[in-house]
Amino acid sequence: MHERIIILDFGSQYTQLIARRVREAGVYSEIHPCTISVEEVAAMQPKGIILSGGPCSVYDEGAPQLDAAWLRLRRADGSPMPVLGICYGLQAMAHTLGGSVERAPRREFGRAALRVDDASDLFAGLPSGGTVWMSHGDHLTRLPEGYEVIAHTDNAPIAAVRARNAPHYGVQFHPEVVHTEYGRQILENFALRICGCSGDWTPASFVEEKIREIRAQVGDRHVILGLSGGVDSSVAAVLLHEAIGDQLTCIFVNNGLLRKGEWEQVQTTFRDHFHMRLQAVDATDRFLARLEGVVDPERKRVIIGHTFVEVFEEATEAITRELGHRPEFLAQGTLYPDVIESVSFKGPSATIKTHHNVGGLPEEMGLEVIEPFRELFKDEVRAIGRLLNVPEAIIGRHPFPGPGLAIRVIGPVTARALALLREADAIFIEELKAWDLYDEVWQAFAVLLPVQTVGVMGDERTYENVCALRAVTSVDGMTADWAHLPYDFLSHVSNRIVNEIRGINRTVYDISSKPPATIEWE
Ligand code: XMP
Repeated sequence: MHERIIILDFGSQYTQLIARRVREAGVYSEIHPCTISVEEVAAMQPKGIILSGGPCSVYDEGAPQLDAAWLRLRRADGSPMPVLGICYGLQAMAHTLGGSVERAPRREFGRAALRVDDASDLFAGLPSGGTVWMSHGDHLTRLPEGYEVIAHTDNAPIAAVRARNAPHYGVQFHPEVVHTEYGRQILENFALRICGCSGDWTPASFVEEKIREIRAQVGDRHVILGLSGGVDSSVAAVLLHEAIGDQLTCIFVNNGLLRKGEWEQVQTTFRDHFHMRLQAVDATDRFLARLEGVVDPERKRVIIGHTFVEVFEEATEAITRELGHRPEFLAQGTLYPDVIESVSFKGPSATIKTHHNVGGLPEEMGLEVIEPFRELFKDEVRAIGRLLNVPEAIIGRHPFPGPGLAIRVIGPVTARALALLREADAIFIEELKAWDLYDEVWQAFAVLLPVQTVGVMGDERTYENVCALRAVTSVDGMTADWAHLPYDFLSHVSNRIVNEIRGINRTVYDISSKPPATIEWE
């Protein structure tokens, strides 16, 4: 088992970033809700524990507390367990140990300069005065017995603390966010210097470990996986296949809302190139019949979600007949950002929801879920995909929504509208690649509007649809800016679309950002 650091989640929006920073230091890290028992974590034999921030005050009713047992925990070798409390994590530690946590006169939010008072361990190699990111309502006003201050800011006399007789540390600021200048180094110091990890964790070791884990978990049983052709499910499929070969069957549903060539391409890649068992189901007619006349975007999503579940269940039954028994597992490419949808003061365990990547497969399917990437971020999954020789065309592909082109045909979804949209989208993407702009944007696509406008073609008047082009830059899809693509490029794409596609005589470029707009039009 690889060296690991366990992060206890107290509900902070930044918890996932802690995990990521620790992994960047070459140490595998996993997040667990703060309600997990001390014994369960001890059994994982971590090298250290990080307590995340959280939205609560330690005095809130029902606020998660830190059992003192966490601070008495020992490692497998008998040494005391290193603990780092971040923001609420520090307050919870201090509260448990009899320090004073008080409401600050006003919430401290933003940058502060960290004055390092002791640079011997947590802050080793850090200059004093680096920027740190503060975001808290409560703060520590009196240290617990046996603790000392190792850094302060102009506003906070206690910005970081250390126990004198145990490897326990706490910081009031957030080392995991990019605004904290030396944050990465602080977490690395904790992981390598204080916890003594070797920092040799890599995507390759992740793959090795997951393959071993999956084999042990699955034994001689069977796994199914909903393949969408996107990065996450594709890399998950290849990893699972590497682990258990033909004990995996992928299900790929054509909902009639895929992009141009996608239906063929996914089958070629997975069946012919990777030699996987693939159940490809063309349910185009069923989806389009159900979507007939539907205009409301949320209705579209619900219909597509339900129909997907139905088709997926039928495919599973077909696999059951073939195998002579029902598959036992469902694998999904769920990523960490999909797992945590929202946090609230009710406590993290109540609010961690599983996001159903493949359109909401119900729990009643009675399958055990395997989610090898639930701790990872997209770029980490991409690195793993490269390692597993997943084609670059899949790894670098822009995100594509589950409801597919249905939410890019504004108004009723018809076969004709889809055909027009597919062509326009293919031209846009082809040209982005030809102009080396594809990788510059987070997502780019065409949207077909239910609006007709007048145009002129030769001597003829036309009265055809408008196509909108959308391209955005973004880090995580949560916020986005419209991509400032070159005018020459846009002009070229517009000419091609209007000249080559009968049915579209005008293109417009969307220059709204998110917020207040969203990336998709529906
Ligand atoms: P919005 O439009 O909300 O999109 O700014 C943010 C990101 O999510 C994708 N998206 C979806 N993905 N099912 C999905 O699987 C959906 O219903 C859905 N709606 C939006 C969108 O493409 C963008 O990447």
